[in-house]
Amino acid sequence: MLKTIRDLKDLKGKRVLLRADFNLPLDKDGDILDENRLTAELPTIAYLIKQGARVVICSHLGRPKGYDKYLSLFPVAVSLMKHFPNKVKFCDKTIGPEAELAANNLKDGEILLLENTRFDPREKANDREFAESLAKLADIFVDDAFATAHRTHASNYGVAMKLPSAIGFLIEKEINVFDKALSNPQRPFVAIFGGAKVEDKLGMIANVIDKADVILIGGAMAYTFLLSKGHNVGNSLVALDRVNDAYQILKLAESKGVKILLPVDHIALNEETGRAVKVTELGQNLSGRDIGPKTVKLFCQEIAKSGQVIWNGPLGEYENPKFKKGTIKIAKAIASAHADTIVGGGDSVSAVKVAGVEDKISYLSTGGGASLMLLEGKPLPALEVIDKK
Ligand code: 3PG
Repeated sequence: MLKTIRDLKDLKGKRVLLRADFNLPLDKDGDILDENRLTAELPTIAYLIKQGARVVICSHLGRPKGYDKYLSLFPVAVSLMKHFPNKVKFCDKTIGPEAELAANNLKDGEILLLENTRFDPREKANDREFAESLAKLADIFVDDAFATAHRTHASNYGVAMKLPSAIGFLIEKEINVFDKALSNPQRPFVAIFGGAKVEDKLGMIANVIDKADVILIGGAMAYTFLLSKGHNVGNSLVALDRVNDAYQILKLAESKGVKILLPVDHIALNEETGRAVKVTELGQNLSGRDIGPKTVKLFCQEIAKSGQVIWNGPLGEYENPKFKKGTIKIAKAIASAHADTIVGGGDSVSAVKVAGVEDKISYLSTGGGASLMLLEGKPLPALEVIDKK
């Protein structure tokens, strides 16, 4: 069992380095679009300050190549100030003498947010010296960056090797939700998978076959499955090198009595006219971009009967307004199901919000890649170095 924040005793006056995932979506002016990941982190921060710890927070934001003023964590510090008035300080360095001074000057119950860890390329390289410099800022390390736990970077993996460590409330909750859903599902358990890259999702589908009763597949990856069954997929996106893997998965599901449903109709792009068309058969000049109305109906019937739903990945080309309907309808159907419902992955969570049903979903995960890894049944690398009880 991993040590959790509750196992840490006598935090008063201790400097705690908290790795959060404040990789928040920004608009083109660098303004924060959605504070979900920040709100999810508040219980851990509130607990630490209540214990009298001096909280030093680090996080990445975006994928900068060196310093990028549009990816500074300063706006996040401003948001944090609203939740913890007069307690938050910001340091425009991540490590080094200024960061050390700022950390050492903290009073009990105060918070210091450091600048974006990824401004230094040594973060992603899990560089030993960079991790040591971060470790210098604290006595204890708390990892609560669930959404980054599939990465082995200096600010999660590296620093956990250098300091006594534990996980925060968010990681604890995310792991428990997925663990319970996969090991003791409410039935019928319906898993819904979408997204473009079939190669990223095959492991997840193979793992869930042993647990789910029904698997619904949409998104561009569905076309690789349809091709493996001999359907004409027109010009749709397919991973030719994965057609056989897709076929094996369908066979495996059949042998285990698990129902896999694929799209039966499509909203396709007519590449000659540039128009979106409703079709049951794909062919010349047509590429499937969203599930069609018959598929929506079929999928919704399964969702309505479910006891538990896990959804990861959009059912169509969600970023294009012409092809987002299927995904939004599925989000609404999940929200109205009398079931335990878990949604993970950036686009699916965003669809839930666009559909205005986020309050009706049992659990919205903060992790994209990390939740995918849990669904694949794989351990999260950053957690393998956290102290055990
Ligand atoms: C995420 O948004 O999935 C996490 O913050 C990890 O970000 P990354 O994919 O850039 O490593």
